[in-house]
Amino acid sequence: MNASPLHKFASLSQRSSRVALGLISGTSMDGIDTALVRIDSSSEPFSIQTLACLHEPYSTAEREALRAFIQCPDLEAMTVWDVYLGERFADTALRLIEQAGAPTVDVIGSHGQTIWHAPRGELFGKPAAGTLQIGQPDVIAARTGLPVVADFRTRDMAWGGQGAPLVPFVDWRLLSHPSENRVALNVGGIANVTLLPAGCEAKEIRALDTGPGNVLIDLATQYFTHGAHAYDAQGAFARKGKVNQHLLDSLLQHPYYIEPTPKSTGREMFGDGYFQTLRTELERLGMLDAIATLTELTARTIARSLSNFSAERLIAAGGGSHNSFLMERLQALLPGVRVESSAAHGIDPDFKEAIAFAVLADCFLRGEPASFPNTTGAQKTVLLGKCCLP
Ligand SMILES: Nc1ncnc2c1ncn2[C@@H]1O[C@H](COP(=O)(O)OP(=O)(O)O)[C@@H](O)[C@H]1O
Ligand SMILES: [Mg+2]
Repeated sequence: MNASPLHKFASLSQRSSRVALGLISGTSMDGIDTALVRIDSSSEPFSIQTLACLHEPYSTAEREALRAFIQCPDLEAMTVWDVYLGERFADTALRLIEQAGAPTVDVIGSHGQTIWHAPRGELFGKPAAGTLQIGQPDVIAARTGLPVVADFRTRDMAWGGQGAPLVPFVDWRLLSHPSENRVALNVGGIANVTLLPAGCEAKEIRALDTGPGNVLIDLATQYFTHGAHAYDAQGAFARKGKVNQHLLDSLLQHPYYIEPTPKSTGREMFGDGYFQTLRTELERLGMLDAIATLTELTARTIARSLSNFSAERLIAAGGGSHNSFLMERLQALLPGVRVESSAAHGIDPDFKEAIAFAVLADCFLRGEPASFPNTTGAQKTVLLGKCCLP
C-alpha cells in the first residue's frame, strides 16, 4: 500500500539531507525569487548549499495592478489575486526545477506576497495583530505535486510576535562567526538588520526592520521619471543630488524610528500613502535632491539601528545592495565596520530571502523553531509555517 501524503511528508524529516525550494515576492513587488537549496543536517553546523536560483519579474501591468489593488483592496480581487499568484509562483518553481536539471525536490517553502502587515492591529479596543500573504499554497502544491509550507508569519503573531523579520535565524545559520560581531542587512522595499554577536546562540540574535529600504527611492524615481526608471540604478541619481537637511531632519522624526525593538513595518507605513504626503516637498527639491535625501534617510536609519552594537562586519543582501551609492553612504556612516556584499560569503544577494524560505520549510519539517523573543517579540520560540499537501 502507498504511504499517505502525510506519512510521506513526515518521513522526510528522518533523512539526513533534503532539497528544498524557496519562493518569495518582497515588498518591492518587482517579481518572484526562487532558490533550490540542499540542506544536510547530519552534522552541526548544517551544510546549506544553493543549487540554483531564478528571478521571474512581474510585468509592469502586473506590478501596477497589484499596487493599485493593495491601495484599494476589494474582496473579489483579493480572492482572484490569491489564486493567480499561486499559479505564478508554481510556474516559477517548475521553471527553476527544469533549469536545474530536474533534481528530486522534497519540499517547497513559499512566503507568498504580503498584502497587508498589521503588527499593531486592533479592533473594538482589542489587540488584533495580523498579517496577510497571498499566493495560494494549495495551488502551488497541486501544480508541482510537492508539499508546500506557507503562512510562515501567522503563528509567530499568534504568540505575540511581529511576524517579522523571519530571516534572522537563517542569517545566524549562514553568517554568524565565532569571533566576529556581524550584522546581516537586507535592503528590500523595507530594510532589516540581524545582529549576530560573536559566537552567539540562536536565542541571542537580535533583529528589526529599520524602516524604508528601497521603497521610497523607487517611488520617487518612478514618479520623477514618469515610469521610465523603476529604480535608481546603482544610486546614480542620488549621487548627483544634494541632501536637503531640513527635509531629512523632518523625515527622521517619524515615530517608527524610536519605537522599541523588535519591530517590523511595511508598505502600509512607508508606501504609496506616505509618499503622497511628501510629494509636494519632494517636487520643490527636484528629482536629484529628492532621491539623494530619501537615499540618505535609508542609510541613516540603517546606521542608527546599529548604535548599540559594536559591529565589525556588515554583510549586505537584497536588491538595494546593488545601489553602490547607498552602500558607500552606509560605509561612511559606519567607519569602524567593514561593509560588504553577501556575495563575499557565497550567498547571491538577490536570493538570500528565497534561500531563507527554503531553509525555513526544512526547519518546519524537522520541527525546529525559527523565531525568538529577540527577533520578533514572540513570547516563546516558535515553529513557523503550515503545510499544504499535494
Ligand atoms: N542595480 C541596482 N541599483 C539600485 N537598486 C537596485 C538595483 N537592483 C535592484 N535594486 C533595488 O532592489 C529592489 C528589489 O529588491 P528586492 O531585494 O527584490 O526587494 P523585495 O524583497 O522588497 O522585493 C528594486 O526595487 C530596486 O529598488
Ligand atoms: Mg523582490
